[in-house]
Amino acid sequence: MKTIKNIHDSARENNIPIMLDDGMSFLLEYIRTHERIRDILECGTAVGYSAIRMASVRWDITVDTLEIDPVMYTEAIRNIDEQHLSGRIHCHLCDAAQYQTDRIYDLIFIDAAKSQYRRYLEHFLRNTVPGSVFLFDNLNFHGIVDDPALSENRSTLQMTRKILKFRDHILADPRFHTEFYNDRGDGIAVAEVL
Ligand SMILES: C[S@@+](CC[C@H](N)C(=O)[O-])C[C@H]1O[C@@H](n2cnc3c(N)ncnc32)[C@H](O)[C@@H]1O
Repeated sequence: MKTIKNIHDSARENNIPIMLDDGMSFLLEYIRTHERIRDILECGTAVGYSAIRMASVRWDITVDTLEIDPVMYTEAIRNIDEQHLSGRIHCHLCDAAQYQTDRIYDLIFIDAAKSQYRRYLEHFLRNTVPGSVFLFDNLNFHGIVDDPALSENRSTLQMTRKILKFRDHILADPRFHTEFYNDRGDGIAVAEVL
């Protein structure tokens, strides 16, 4: 049976973009210190690493996690089963922007297609109540958002422009109280629904 460390190391070796270790520490600490967080939605499962880490914070946490890639999804299901967490982590093979549910979440962790963050925010707002939080990772995109000279790739630059627009938007949106942690993970924003 794989340990959580095996899942982490194998993802890193295979260039699967799991969250940076510092970002993960931030996320887990946030869940630990906000005891009301029980029901979590995650957009972007990859191999299930972050879902397993979040569900392991407390025994009563449930995670619905959404993944569009069937290969990732299959690996995530295997990892979640092996950790005996399939009763609390439910993985769905779908485009996150199409997922429909009536459930209300305490935390919505957005870690899927970076160019779609605004869309996910609007789509899942109906699944929140005041006090629920959205947590977004990769708002610096390896420093390229603030220093476009770091990349010459046209599609990367297009995406980082979208991320910058989203970052400015979420900080100004009066429906949320948003804190931006520039130096944690790859740039993390926590937006509390007012
Ligand atoms: C950064 S990885 C997620 C890492 C994971 N949260 C972790 O830290 O262990 C992003 C994942 O989102 C998935 N993804 C991309 N677009 C998506 C979409 N529209 N709906 C659902 N998943 C998507 C990708 O296939 C990829 O596996």
